Amino acid sequence: MKRIGVLTGGGDAPGLNAVIRAVVKTAKNDYGCEVLGIRDSYDGFLMPDGVFPLGHRDVRGILPRGGTILGTANRGNPYARKVMRDGKEEVVDVSNDIIKAIKDLKLDALVVIGGDGTLRFAHDMFLRGVPVVGVPKTIDNDIHGTEVSFGFDTALNIATDAIDRLHTTAESHQRAMVVELMGRDAGFITLHSGVAGGADVILIPEIPFKWETVARKVLERRERGSLFTILAVSEGAKPADGDASYNRAGDEMYVPRLGGIGQKVGEFLERSGIETRVTVLGHVQRGGTPSAFDRWLATRYGSAAVRVAAQGHFDRMVTLMNGRITDMPLMDAIAIPKRVDVNGEAVLTARGVGISFGDE
Ligand code: F6P
Repeated sequence: MKRIGVLTGGGDAPGLNAVIRAVVKTAKNDYGCEVLGIRDSYDGFLMPDGVFPLGHRDVRGILPRGGTILGTANRGNPYARKVMRDGKEEVVDVSNDIIKAIKDLKLDALVVIGGDGTLRFAHDMFLRGVPVVGVPKTIDNDIHGTEVSFGFDTALNIATDAIDRLHTTAESHQRAMVVELMGRDAGFITLHSGVAGGADVILIPEIPFKWETVARKVLERRERGSLFTILAVSEGAKPADGDASYNRAGDEMYVPRLGGIGQKVGEFLERSGIETRVTVLGHVQRGGTPSAFDRWLATRYGSAAVRVAAQGHFDRMVTLMNGRITDMPLMDAIAIPKRVDVNGEAVLTARGVGISFGDE
């Protein structure tokens, strides 16, 4: 193995830099291998200065840094890219150009750090002759093939801290406080931080809720003398009689953007006579320094990805299973998305400590 590339795709997640650092250090220290960084996900292959050498100096001091030194792109669909041609906007398939650029670079391996969209294209590239190894990244923790993706623990800590902070102000004012949390169609961030932060109501996409049940829970608490209520609401939560809330429609390039359910829950509570405030935590959950756990996991993933490549095992994703780092076929890892098990121990635990999911 003489030359490998590394790129980061999709939304950023705390720990990306730790993976990049581990890839560079392991490739250089253990294999004496050249490492090329690719800018802005797959876009870098099409940019004049989009591919550049990465050495020890480039990764110095980046372990605790959030974001990604390589840049990333959420418009990661190479099959539908908006370009200007003759003054007109057109959507074109640039996948052939990307694959040609990769082959021209004569990479012995390409380490792709991303979520399901980025990894899906990595698998397509493998089928067209590119030696890829995937690393699972997402704060949402919705990649089926791994127990946990890096970024999740940091997001969870930030969300829990926010719930803790909302508790003190909610109690002082005797209000209901709704906090809308990220996660797309998976409720892991909300469920775990809701339990860790002692929320009273948790609304997640996997368990459709009833408006009246949510309001009743708040009113019952009041009757019992608890004059404030904390409601942790996933951005993808939906009522049993309706759909998820979006603040931007999708198109060929972008997936629809979730948002607004927290506000709707807040408005319903106010209509039910409950003073309520709404906080949308948003991208704060993805920013800043990664937790120690995410640095540890990301470093193990990055190092393992290089070892998998060195063994000539491609179209694989590194994964955490039963506490051990191993690897598995990329498509098996992402074929089905991971969702909260509605009958699982985590939901049971939440119900056991009196948390309502707004469903019964
Ligand atoms: O997948 C990670 C995530 O942060 C989701 O939780 C959220 O819905 C989405 O990305 C936001 O994407 P963007 O950064 O494009 O607004």
